[in-house]
Amino acid sequence: MSDTDQIVVKPVSNAVGAEVDGVDLSSPLSPSVLSTLQTAFAAHGVLFFRNQSLTPEQHIAFAESWGRVVVNRFFTPVEDYPQVAEVRKEPHQSINIGGGWHTDHSYDEEPALGSILCAKELPESGGDTLFAGMGAAYEALSPGLKETLSGMKALHSSRHVFGEKADMPEDVRDRLKNAESATQDTVHPVVITHPLSGRKSLYVNPGFTLGFEGWTAEESRPLLAYLYEHASREEFTFRFRWQPGSVAFWDNRATWHYALNDYAGQRRLMHRITLDGEALSA
Ligand code: SIN
Repeated sequence: MSDTDQIVVKPVSNAVGAEVDGVDLSSPLSPSVLSTLQTAFAAHGVLFFRNQSLTPEQHIAFAESWGRVVVNRFFTPVEDYPQVAEVRKEPHQSINIGGGWHTDHSYDEEPALGSILCAKELPESGGDTLFAGMGAAYEALSPGLKETLSGMKALHSSRHVFGEKADMPEDVRDRLKNAESATQDTVHPVVITHPLSGRKSLYVNPGFTLGFEGWTAEESRPLLAYLYEHASREEFTFRFRWQPGSVAFWDNRATWHYALNDYAGQRRLMHRITLDGEALSA
């Protein structure tokens, strides 16, 4: 019997995500288990695991079995673990981190491959995360719009989100750091060829994309608004309900995500590790 026989990969929606059973992420993964997970990751864009309860050391070891960890410049790290970012909302705070559609680090020249989020403390109800599949969203566009987008590039930035001039309430600013380092501006193709799957994927997002290269912000706004409305349609999305011990591992080049902020008066604490990526091409 091979160590991959007990692994079950079950798609959770037509467009994005699969739940994986039969893997213990707290132990080192054999090359065959890793290869099974890599195939599932490329096919589904997000993998969900239940009942894992990883320590920071185990979380880091799992991340490093995929690649190099990239330390987020702006998130407060977990004490003694600079590689692990805290995604925290306290009962008295009103704004959550990640509460809008986005994909992590698209402002970097080599955007992060993916992010691994572990549930540490969950509200009694609420605090789900939505995911959207950018391969399926792209494929549903008309041939004419696909043709138009094929030659286009878009500008992404960290300045308006994490920078000194970002319009951010104090209670969020307190949870972030290094505003003076939010100087990343970069251009990526609007449609990328996904580095793992080879699938075409829409690569603009409401969080970090400012506009199309060579277009003004005003000219860009209507087409971006159309693409955002299209890509966040129900048929391209999935709502993940966290449980204690849940882990979600998403591909930032294939998906968007959105942390729902519907648990006022309760604490939610997650640990996130982000993995280094590569330059993207059309
Ligand atoms: C994030 O945007 O990385 C956090 C997602 C979440 O807290 O569900």
